[in-house]
Amino acid sequence: MAVSAKSAAQRDAALGASLPHDSAHLHVSGRASYTDDLPEPRDLLHVAVGMSTVAHAKIRAIDLSDVLAAAGVVDVCLAADIPGSNNYGPIVADDPILAAALVQYVGQPVFAVAATSVGAARKAAKLVKIHYQELEAILDPLTAVDKASFVLPSETLLRGDPDAALKAAPHRATRRVFVGGQDQFYLEGQIAMAIPEDDGCMRVYSSTQQPDEIQSLVARAIQRPASDITAVCRRMGGAFGGKESQAALIACIAALLADKTGKPCKLRLDRDDDMIMTGKRHDFVIDYDVGFDDTGRILGIDFELAARCGMSADLSGPVNDRAMFSCDNAYFLENVRILSHRCKTNTVSNTAFRGFGGPQGMFAIEYVIEDIARRLRMDPLHARRRNFYGTTERNVTHYLQPVEDNIIDEMFDQLTASSDYEARRREIQAFNAGSAILKRGIAITPVKFGISFTSTQLNQAGALVHVYKDGTVQLNHGGTEMGQGLYIKIAQVVADEFQIDIERIRIMAADTSKIPNASATAASSGADMNGMAAKRAAAKIRARLTEVAAQHFATTEAEIEFKNNRVCAGEQELTFTELVQLAWADRVSLSATGFYKTPTINYDRETFSGRPFFYFAYGAAVTEVVVDILTGENRTLRVDILHDCGDSINPAIDLGQIEGGYVQGVGWLTTEELWWNERGELGTHAPSTYKIPTCSDLAPDFRVQLMQGTANTEDTIYRSKAVGEPPLMLALSAFHAIRDAIADSDNPLPDLRAPATPESILNALQGTTNE
Ligand code: MTE
Ligand code: MOS
Repeated sequence: MAVSAKSAAQRDAALGASLPHDSAHLHVSGRASYTDDLPEPRDLLHVAVGMSTVAHAKIRAIDLSDVLAAAGVVDVCLAADIPGSNNYGPIVADDPILAAALVQYVGQPVFAVAATSVGAARKAAKLVKIHYQELEAILDPLTAVDKASFVLPSETLLRGDPDAALKAAPHRATRRVFVGGQDQFYLEGQIAMAIPEDDGCMRVYSSTQQPDEIQSLVARAIQRPASDITAVCRRMGGAFGGKESQAALIACIAALLADKTGKPCKLRLDRDDDMIMTGKRHDFVIDYDVGFDDTGRILGIDFELAARCGMSADLSGPVNDRAMFSCDNAYFLENVRILSHRCKTNTVSNTAFRGFGGPQGMFAIEYVIEDIARRLRMDPLHARRRNFYGTTERNVTHYLQPVEDNIIDEMFDQLTASSDYEARRREIQAFNAGSAILKRGIAITPVKFGISFTSTQLNQAGALVHVYKDGTVQLNHGGTEMGQGLYIKIAQVVADEFQIDIERIRIMAADTSKIPNASATAASSGADMNGMAAKRAAAKIRARLTEVAAQHFATTEAEIEFKNNRVCAGEQELTFTELVQLAWADRVSLSATGFYKTPTINYDRETFSGRPFFYFAYGAAVTEVVVDILTGENRTLRVDILHDCGDSINPAIDLGQIEGGYVQGVGWLTTEELWWNERGELGTHAPSTYKIPTCSDLAPDFRVQLMQGTANTEDTIYRSKAVGEPPLMLALSAFHAIRDAIADSDNPLPDLRAPATPESILNALQGTTNE
């Protein structure tokens, strides 16, 4: 794996260095404390949730007598016991914390029980008797479309004249494609511990991407002002979007019982309950109709997207908006209609998952491109290049944002060369001609991913930096750490600002009492936004220190230089600590806040136009696979990735995100299958039936490179680019490599569904689907 070193002139000290994750030493020694590892307070009660066993029903009666009589049980909580608002919906108020009269999915929380041990609580929760009056359940998105069952109104984005373009096109292709959902499968499950404090206040430790929302939703549920609630998260053992909105359900339940009993309460879901109760990536059914010319260029396209949102809106509005924005991936679409249905089904409410609708939109267009190429008998590589955005023309997205930073052609030039794509394509053709059962396939796919929250107001961040008299620093900002390496990157920024060693910086937990009103750490914008806020906070203190130093050295501020833990003016110098002590003695404040809002973005949701994204992150991947066409089993043989992180703040962390994102994407598209039965019960709720990738699934030949010389053209933190989500979509190359392997002259356009499990591959080979 190659990482080029930053030129010394470009970066000082910590910036651009491949420093290890700040908690790496704790992760590997098992000493990193996650929420469940915190010392338990005296009298702690453990909470378990009683879940609905039916997909859609009126609750006629609930008999809790056996639950209350069970050993160790202290109290229970029903919807009727909630003093404040019985809702944890992040945008629309349609998410009851506890179902009151109606249950809408198997696994929906109906009541919660607090007991003296985890075992006692879980055992007791099973003793409830609920009398349901069952109602008709809608269990899949296509039925929902038929019955006009939606969590939010359908949306249409229209540019140009797709109908006329389709009619006039020399070639037409239509298809219905299916792409599955995905469980976040964070290794640390959902958990919260709520501790009542002095005078009605409450402290909530939560594994959450969004402490601010925990604070406000807990406050509303227990009817206290937000100022009485403090939410804290030092780290999560993975989140992947699954703890953006839905961590609040867990926190609210723990807080309700803490409020009711006056005792600290902890709720930790077991893995099966976590998978059954909390939302996942949306599965989509996508219909398309595309018109194209002899060269493979798209002339007009019509998309209809139907997403399984589950029983409530949750984040499905913005997730589906992003799916619509991402239907271009890296391609110019002049005449396009995208109709997006947000289907209401009696299944768990789907939510954020790395890519946030982007992967599904990109899945749609990549399938289109592949079909065009296969119909024209051209290498899909060339159909892709034929449709890429230009740099001076054909460079405006279907939502009217100009693409100003396009490097995708350059990336394809570099990656096809470094991966030896053309030669391997020929070699694979020769191999397949002589191999009846093992078939190899290869595909190259691009990624262009818009960076920013599409909801403009969320693009803001705050930081709080303290410098202590001994020259050490405490760093607070609104971002949360979920393993992605955000905290070390921000510490690198602050170390650079003060020109001090990274060891002097203590990285603090995300804490609503330090940073108010912070946005979720999501949309990959954690480092962009919190990095800028922290830099600004540190810069304020540095400016004050500069003034003190100038006075001390009897020189001008322009002469003062911070370098290598020292501050100097010509020959004179002080250690950073000495200067800090001078400033303290001078009664200069050594604490500052910083605030950042992403500039230039705006977006009109009514017309689906504007500049929703500050910039785009790019990547490209080549994957080669081999498929056994008798069994459908397959292996990845080689992966070549070229990814754009702008000027990376920490190449090692970024490489980790690229590798992890790719592998997680391959899981989504090949092995991770969610399966519900006809009663709406999720059958795949544990690793025994739900297959995430393991180390042994990694390609034996896995080559990842950061694109060089692509400093962000926008003024981001040190010209870096966001990296959290975009690499996941590099995995589309693995899916299309499989499809490439199984396509032949008898079956040139196999109807392969994602995930491409062996079963799905065999169905595609046989031209059958078991719908
Ligand atoms: N990486 C790890 N190790 N664990 C995670 O939970 N979440 C992903 C991505 N990378 C995740 C991860 C998601 S969904 C997002 S939005 C970003 O990290 C959030 O962090 P960032 O904004 O700091 O990139
Ligand atoms: Mo990431 S899906 O934006 O939490």
